[in-house]
Amino acid sequence: MKFDENLARFQHDRFGMFIHWGVYAMHGTNEWCQYRSKISQEDYQFMIDHFEPDMFDPKHWAQTAKRVGMKYVIFTTKHHDGFCMWDTQFTDYKITNSPAKRDVLREIVDAFREEGIAVGLYYSISDWYHPDFIIDGSHSLHHLPQEEIDRLNEGRDMSRYAQYMRDQVRELLTEFGEIVEFWFDVSGKIDPVACESQAMYDMIRELQPHIILNNRLALPGCEDILTPENYLRDEDCVDADGNSVPWEGCHTLSASWCYNRDEKSYAKTPLRILETIITQTSLNGNSLINIGPTARGYISPLEMKSLDFVAHWMKYNARSIYGCGSAPKDFPPPPKDCRYTYNKKLNRLYVHILHWPRGALSLRGLTGRVKYAQLLSDGSAFQIEKVGNFTNENLNPRFHKDAAALRLMNQPEDTPIPVIEVFLKD
Ligand code: GLC
Repeated sequence: MKFDENLARFQHDRFGMFIHWGVYAMHGTNEWCQYRSKISQEDYQFMIDHFEPDMFDPKHWAQTAKRVGMKYVIFTTKHHDGFCMWDTQFTDYKITNSPAKRDVLREIVDAFREEGIAVGLYYSISDWYHPDFIIDGSHSLHHLPQEEIDRLNEGRDMSRYAQYMRDQVRELLTEFGEIVEFWFDVSGKIDPVACESQAMYDMIRELQPHIILNNRLALPGCEDILTPENYLRDEDCVDADGNSVPWEGCHTLSASWCYNRDEKSYAKTPLRILETIITQTSLNGNSLINIGPTARGYISPLEMKSLDFVAHWMKYNARSIYGCGSAPKDFPPPPKDCRYTYNKKLNRLYVHILHWPRGALSLRGLTGRVKYAQLLSDGSAFQIEKVGNFTNENLNPRFHKDAAALRLMNQPEDTPIPVIEVFLKD
């Protein structure tokens, strides 16, 4: 595959699944548990020695992602804890040396591909386990007295660590087939010189030239996409010339990226998650929605609830997401509480109605431009008229003269965010 093709596919698909899964799921709080709860390496090892994900069923994960309409997956091969979720030959600190005894990554890659879902990999540059990675303020040992940190840092050699990273990334990019996206992460500030980011970048481009790289290699200009995290933007990402830059907003379902046992009512409602996906598409962004499976390996019922909610909506409305981006620049803004997405190829505008108003909706700038309109979820026609025909302007001065008016009845049942598909005239 060529890079441009891959990026076009990525922007067409718009929607992927992020998975944070590792030994940290056992702590049931946060993937930073080793750091936050000052867990010693000995105690962390004790957890690893009890890691038995007997209900790990990657096929079910993959089928779930497919049902939700997710087109690609990004899996945490190694988080900041340094523990590797594949049978790497470069360390013993890996899943196949735990009671799990399975090459989890291999199984995930195979299962998702089988469902037609493209595979991307997350890899943490920060590593709280590797003996050459310098202990800094965002290392799990940051809480030790400074003299102790200085002592432990003596003899640490970041260039050896950089080589280790390159060895591992080479392994990931040669043994697991085509990887569509490589998702670097860091726990704090990373020095691109010490981490030899340029050499890493060159190697990746050589091994898989089509790959999409995120912006966390700390190498300015090397990124293909920006990755705003847990932050819902209200505008597209643009470069200095105002041109749209590819981006992917990633979001947790709860407060943590990994499984959180105490999370009983998710801060983000399923509706909010759906709104996030729609809003990001309307701003030319992709959506990477995260799950954190339990330590036994299944997706928690709470997370499943959110996923099911999105799956149901996507089943009937995915056409307003795939192949869509922001509305043409010359379009006036959508009505209040609405989001536009637009499919250039089909020349169709999708009006997402977050709060269903009574009576009518006025679509500014669209008078005379509408060929046909229907409710996307069931294909039932909508009447679109010139405002002048439809309503007395003296009574409804808020209607713009150039607006097309949509007559609305009751909110369609069972459709949390209804979408009107508007076929535009060429
Ligand atoms: C942050 C968190 C990390 C998580 C990542 C995902 O960097 O520190 O735990 O994996 O976000 O975007």
